Amino acid sequence: MLNIAKIRAQFPALHQEVHGHPLVYLDNGATTQKPQAVIDAIQQYYAEQNSNIHRGVHYLSQLATDAYEASRTCIQKHLNAQHSHEIIFTRGITEAINLVAHGFRSVLKIGDEIIVSTIEHHSNIVPWQMACDATGAKLQIIPMDENGALKMDAFHALLSEKTKLVAVNHISNALGTINPIKEMIDAAHQVGAAILIDGAQAAPHLSIDVQELDADFYCISGHKMYAPTGIGALYGKEKWLNKIPPYQGGGEMIATVSFEETTYADLPHKFEAGTPNIAGGVAFKTAIDWLNEIGLENIAQYESKLLQYASERLSEIDGFRLIGNAPQKAGVISFMINDLHPYDIGMILDKLGIAVRTGHHCAQPVMDAFCIPGTVRASLAIYNTKDDVDRLVEGVKKAKSMLS
Ligand code: ALA
Repeated sequence: MLNIAKIRAQFPALHQEVHGHPLVYLDNGATTQKPQAVIDAIQQYYAEQNSNIHRGVHYLSQLATDAYEASRTCIQKHLNAQHSHEIIFTRGITEAINLVAHGFRSVLKIGDEIIVSTIEHHSNIVPWQMACDATGAKLQIIPMDENGALKMDAFHALLSEKTKLVAVNHISNALGTINPIKEMIDAAHQVGAAILIDGAQAAPHLSIDVQELDADFYCISGHKMYAPTGIGALYGKEKWLNKIPPYQGGGEMIATVSFEETTYADLPHKFEAGTPNIAGGVAFKTAIDWLNEIGLENIAQYESKLLQYASERLSEIDGFRLIGNAPQKAGVISFMINDLHPYDIGMILDKLGIAVRTGHHCAQPVMDAFCIPGTVRASLAIYNTKDDVDRLVEGVKKAKSMLS
C-alpha cells in the first residue's frame, strides 16, 4: 500500500494556501509539481557541478558531463531502449516532434501520407502540417467515436503503401483516452510506415518498453513526470536517427566544419546542437529514480482507483457531462456542467484554491468534434487524494450554483 501522505510531504508546492484555501492541485496534465529530491538536484547541480558538458578538460566539466550522461543512460533503461545513443535530449515533446517532422522532410515526397488522430495535441498536428506543406505529402486523420476512442477500423483503412509515418499519442491530454498503441505500431509496420508515439501523458503513469512496443519514436516530457520544465527526451530507433538529417545546426552536433563541407557528429550528438539544459537533464534522472522507487505499477493502480472515485463523485452533480469516456482511460476528467462556460467554472474553482485547466487544452479538433468550446479538466497525479476530489466536487457545486 502506498503511503500517499508521505509522498505528498515531499512536494513543498502542495503545502500552501491559494486565495485563503489549502491548494488542491489538479492540473497535472499541464505540469506536475516537483518533489524535494528534484528541487535539491537542481540546487546541487548549480552549487557544486555547474559547467559546460562534453567540452572542458577540467574537473567540473567532467562532473557535469558524467551527471548528464548518467541521465541519458537512466532514460535508456527506463524506456528499455537498446542503446543510450537512441536517447536524444530535447526541450520537451514539442521539440522532439518538430525534430522528427523536420527530419522527415527528407523522406517525404508528393503523394506520401502521414496519419495523425483527431485527439492529438496541437504539437502532434502542426509540425506534420508543416512537413506536408514543405513536401506535398498529405495529412490523414483517424476519427474518434462519441466516447473519444479512436475508430480503429478507420485507422486500418487509412493505412496504405502511401503511409510514411503515423503519429499518435499514447494517452490523450484532453480526454484521457489510452490508445491501443501496440496494435497501431504493428499495423503501421505492416505497410512499411514508421510510427511516433507522443508519450507526454503516459510516461508519468505507465511503464514503457520501447523494444517490446517496437515504436520507431517515443517522446517523453520531463515536467509532466515530476522533473523540471525545459527538458524532455526523444527515443528513436538507431536506423531512423541515422537516416534523418539534424534539425538544428551549431556547436556539439558536428564532426568537422569547413566552408567546403561540414560533417555531423555521431548519435546522439548529431541532434543536440548548442548548450543544453544540463541542470534539467541531471534532475530528470532524479525524477525518474523517484518515480521508480514508488513503482509505475503502483502509481497506475492508485490513480486508476482515484479516477473511478472522481468520476463517480462528479457524476452526482446534476448537469455533469463527462467528455471522453473511452473504455481505456487514464487519470483525466474533462467535463462540462450544463452549458456553463468552462472558463467561468475554472475561475471560481481557482478562488477556492483548486487548480484545474479550462479551455481546449491545445486540442481544438477534439473540442470541434464534440461541438463544445472547451472543458474543465482535472488531471491526477500520485499525490492527489480523495480529499482533493471531494474539494473539487464541492467547488464545482458551488460554481454551478453561482453561475446558474
Ligand atoms: N500539454 C499540456 C496540457 O495538456 C500543456 O495541459
